[in-house]
Amino acid sequence: MPPIAQPLCCGPHWKGTMVRNILILGGITEAYALASALVDCPGVRVISSLAGRTGTPRLPAGEVRIGGFGGPEGLAGYLAAQKIAAVVDCTHPFASRMGWNAAAGCAVAGVPLLRLERPAWRRQDGDLWDEVDDWQQAVAVVANHSRRVLLAVGRQELAPFATLERPWFLIRSVEPPDPMPPFPQAEILLARGPFTLADEHALLTGQRIDTIVCKNSGGPTDAKLTAARALGIRVVIRNRPRRPETATAATVTEALYWLGYQRGV
Ligand SMILES: NC(=O)c1ccc[n+]([C@@H]2O[C@H](COP(=O)([O-])OP(=O)(O)OC[C@H]3O[C@@H](n4cnc5c(N)ncnc54)[C@H](OP(=O)(O)O)[C@@H]3O)[C@@H](O)[C@H]2O)c1
Repeated sequence: MPPIAQPLCCGPHWKGTMVRNILILGGITEAYALASALVDCPGVRVISSLAGRTGTPRLPAGEVRIGGFGGPEGLAGYLAAQKIAAVVDCTHPFASRMGWNAAAGCAVAGVPLLRLERPAWRRQDGDLWDEVDDWQQAVAVVANHSRRVLLAVGRQELAPFATLERPWFLIRSVEPPDPMPPFPQAEILLARGPFTLADEHALLTGQRIDTIVCKNSGGPTDAKLTAARALGIRVVIRNRPRRPETATAATVTEALYWLGYQRGV
């Protein structure tokens, strides 16, 4: 991905004297930190957009809108109507449709776009990783190698695993799956991270887990990977989907620099 660009000083809806409207496409923790930092900047109106998948979302600082835009065209219309000067795409690394929509919508509206994305986790010495590009590949791995699996893939992506008679799955999810796919052998563990290393160690040993299935989300919530490494547990980890080429920042500080509110990074 291209590195962060020059600090941004202009855009079709930014003339340098008026209030500057910045749209954050929310999804990851850094979106909250960016919104909090921007509300304190003089002359900035910050609007965060949430997809609205969870019933009681945590709300960021500043203004919030909830729900889809209606594809790239809908987003382009929103950017023009709200006179948005810049967009920061802070959606989850696996929310790639929104990423492509953001690139297309911003191109149509002529609005600069920054992607704020935490680096992916990298395999370390001692890791027993199977990297897969889709869930069918993950299903094949666990069908052949696993007896007791911690499934941490999100409640909307469980269905491919429910086709298996074995292994047994411990499905960890923030909210209950709805509908719950018809797993022959599974239990649900409702829990919201971040989890400590001690939590993960206790869960993996207590439940005699031999395989974890997860996404390469990146970021600080990697305790399960550290615990798996120490315990010699297999990790079936899904690689990130491709996203459009855009200016990219890895941290909130870099994003503030791109927006012109932070000196040097
Ligand atoms: N996929 C994951 O693993 C994951 C994990 C944690 C959090 N999330 C968050 O959950 C949300 C939905 O994820 P997904 O995988 O379903 O996304 P997706 O497949 O990329 O997006 C599906 C549709 O949801 C709407 N949408 C997504 N993010 C939005 C946002 N921030 N504001 C307004 N509309 C948004 C868009 O609808 P329109 O086309 O109508 O605009 C988009 O086309 C995202 O915001 C993502 O950051 C996803």
